[in-house]
Amino acid sequence: MNIRDIIIAHGQQHLLPVLDGLSGDERAAFIEQLKGIDWALTELWRHPHDLSGKGRIRPITGLSSEDIRRDGQIYTRVGEDAVRSGKVGAVLLAGGQGTRLGWDAPKGTFDLGISRPIYIFERLIANLSEVCARCNCFIPLFIMTSEVNDAATREFLSAHAYFGYPERYIRFFVQDMAPVVDLDGKLMLSERGLATSPNGNGGWYSSLARAGVLDDFPDIEWLNVFAVDNVLQRIADPVFVGATIVSGCNCGAKVVRKCDPYERVGVLCLEDGISSVIEYYEMTEEMANARGADGNLVYGYGVILNYLFKLSKLRETAANRIPVHVVRKKVPVLQPDGTFVKPETENAYKFETLILDMIRLMGTCLPFEVVREREFAPVKNKIGTDSVESARELLRLNGVEL
Ligand code: UTP
Repeated sequence: MNIRDIIIAHGQQHLLPVLDGLSGDERAAFIEQLKGIDWALTELWRHPHDLSGKGRIRPITGLSSEDIRRDGQIYTRVGEDAVRSGKVGAVLLAGGQGTRLGWDAPKGTFDLGISRPIYIFERLIANLSEVCARCNCFIPLFIMTSEVNDAATREFLSAHAYFGYPERYIRFFVQDMAPVVDLDGKLMLSERGLATSPNGNGGWYSSLARAGVLDDFPDIEWLNVFAVDNVLQRIADPVFVGATIVSGCNCGAKVVRKCDPYERVGVLCLEDGISSVIEYYEMTEEMANARGADGNLVYGYGVILNYLFKLSKLRETAANRIPVHVVRKKVPVLQPDGTFVKPETENAYKFETLILDMIRLMGTCLPFEVVREREFAPVKNKIGTDSVESARELLRLNGVEL
């Protein structure tokens, strides 16, 4: 099929005049973009909920912070051995756009300091370096960026000499992009042809595997994947690594106890007997409020985007598709005069896969409870909950001088 037929077959006739208006390299690039479109994806906006049907939900048991205190020494020994043998790699997810923070540069370049600069990337690398110092070795660090922020991320880290982390242990890889459609399913345009957007944090493993950078560290058996915005998190934390290995599970998830039944976090559970994450909006009133004999919420283990995945299991499940979430967003629209204007209301669908949907693919997951005030300080918003302010407060509480 030639490109005009493809455009017509998919109901994208509004692109024909755009195509006709292009020549040379620009036209070739536009055709290339169109050929790369996953048309199954762009059809999803018609029935976005088809993929979200849940099975039978039951509570999951995990390691409480008391359990961990009791058996921590054994776990730590197992975890430190794994780190020292090069079996653990760290994966920093930094491909997001951080729209809520309203910071145009990569989120990791945000400065939280008051009397001196303290960049988010700097904090994360400091946290990882603590484990390296304890184990007397370096841990490979894979950094996922997107087409939008790759160059800026690399430049920033290089300009800051990777905050003292040896460059030979750092690898960058770029996540895939997905097309953006308007509310009628029409592909939208950007300055550079079709509008695209990072395809969500669920694509990290396929992008990492495709980049081939894992081959540089053949001893890796476990990958600790974490978000860019939690400045207190422990990375490649030996006690967590050890507990997950000892549990025999294919993955582990750091969790915090929900602060109230309606906190807006995903919760670990069993779905048809398999580990899974249920979103706060998928829970019934009864489930959200259910309490066990100990008084704790039965569905109370909130995920904080810090997971340990067994690499062999990831390889085994790599071909399985995870659900694609269709998300309504505000996307700038091309005007007749060639400028772009950001709309007041949501006008577009983006397509994203989420890392929390990978938990189900892994089959078994160990919930590992951490103390919220010690390990969870996400920088999502400018002010209020999970904000620059709250993260600063928590950093102070943990002895970081701002
Ligand atoms: P969030 O869900 O908080 O999204 O990402 P975000 O894009 O950073 O921020 P908002 O929602 O626009 O304000 C959680 C983690 O997943 C990464 C982010 O960088 C963050 O570490 N992520 C998200 C990616 O790496 N790629 C994506 O496509 C989306």
